Amino acid sequence: MTSQTTVKTLLILGASGDLTGRLLLPGLARLVAKGRAGGLSLVGAGSDSLTADQWRTRVSETFAAAEGAADGDGRAALKAMAESTEYHAVDVTAEGALAGLLGSLPGPVAVYFALPPHVSQLACEALHPDQVPAGTRLVMEKPFGSGAESARDLNGTLVRLVPEDHIHRVDHFLGKATVLNILGLRFANNFLEPVWNRDHIERVEIIFDEDLALEGRAGYYDGAGALRDMIQSHLLQIMALVALEAPATIQERDLRDAVSAVLRASSIKAPYASSTRRARYTAGNISGKDVPDYVREEGVDPARNTETLAEVQVAIDNWRWKGVPFILRSGKALGTKRKEAVITFRPVPHLPGGFSGLDSPNQLRIGFGPDTLQLDLDVNGPGDIFTLNRITLKSELNASELLPYGEVLEGVLNGDPLLSVRGDTAEDCWRIVEPVLRSWNRGDVPLEEYDAGGPGPEGWLAVPPNGSAKE
Ligand code: BG6
Repeated sequence: MTSQTTVKTLLILGASGDLTGRLLLPGLARLVAKGRAGGLSLVGAGSDSLTADQWRTRVSETFAAAEGAADGDGRAALKAMAESTEYHAVDVTAEGALAGLLGSLPGPVAVYFALPPHVSQLACEALHPDQVPAGTRLVMEKPFGSGAESARDLNGTLVRLVPEDHIHRVDHFLGKATVLNILGLRFANNFLEPVWNRDHIERVEIIFDEDLALEGRAGYYDGAGALRDMIQSHLLQIMALVALEAPATIQERDLRDAVSAVLRASSIKAPYASSTRRARYTAGNISGKDVPDYVREEGVDPARNTETLAEVQVAIDNWRWKGVPFILRSGKALGTKRKEAVITFRPVPHLPGGFSGLDSPNQLRIGFGPDTLQLDLDVNGPGDIFTLNRITLKSELNASELLPYGEVLEGVLNGDPLLSVRGDTAEDCWRIVEPVLRSWNRGDVPLEEYDAGGPGPEGWLAVPPNGSAKE
């Protein structure tokens, strides 16, 4: 059965860009293929003078990849959307240009700014509130601003145009099924909540180590680095879901209030040479492929000292978490992909005398790709029944039928901001990392090096995969 979207037109600005081709159109295609975008028209716009045919070809080619996931109706819907889509060559920062386009499209319209942040800002500034029809939704990509102040300015510009619940700040990690599953795991299982606090949990690690290197993205990444690119946005969102108080519902108001309360209590404490680490990769080999030094990648300016691996220890100063370190780490060009949250429990208060073998702390591991859940426990045997042994209970989790961008887009198209970052939260995420960025700029924390394809520098805070917590 096909479900109808509240939004009638999805207008993508920056339609010829990389983000649209790589993530947005595939996410949309899955939605359409599954009959979850009935009644929606797609319109592309950008400063490139694509012909309507070139744009349609681009859309059809991307949509073709989703045909396998579609039934007959889904295939027909994909074809219909690809054939009917329009393209408008406009400079959306020019006075009146975006307003004219917006006024000409069947509403409500969701305007997706798949543009560099400063261009999005200019495009929004060029709009006047009376040029924005009621019901319009504004969809902003990350990074949202470049610091707390610019995020505040951008929030100010946007709320002049539409109400807060019509602004969607995209963080596609909120569309990852396993990330959302943290809520199901925590709040639909009675045994976890009593131990989900500082009395029983020793540390939490949220790790997103990628084996991808720069992948030609110097234009964006060299000005961002791992802390801004991953930790300031995605990993803080995951942390908030791990740490939040039980909401009464998982509707947008309750859930986003709970997320915001965690982030307001969070900070990274000085001295930053103890609470943070940064490093940059040098030449190496990843799965048989040679990778050059980061500083020799095309478009990189070595003088920027951009980090490709970052690790920070976040403190959440509230009753539940005071004193529990939350270690957030992410980097590029590592030898092993490791994408997981690891919750390490405290040791038992007293191990009955007579046991031998190792009593290691329990660990709960939530894998974000592959999507898995693992619980490490100590049990007796085999062999000597008084010798402790480690076992792991493991389950593969079901992937969603939509891609993360599809999940997020579905919220936009149905007028639900649940999977979007709220304005105050976007500012708080910058407030948390900004002192670190300033300290790194001053050179307080050395920029270490690691070989591409290796495990990263030694002696950092996060424990190795399947290792036990440090003393
Ligand atoms: C993006 C970052 O937001 O997330 C990339 O800009 C990163 O650098 C990516 O590789 C990771 O997300 P995913 O969904 O591809 O695992």
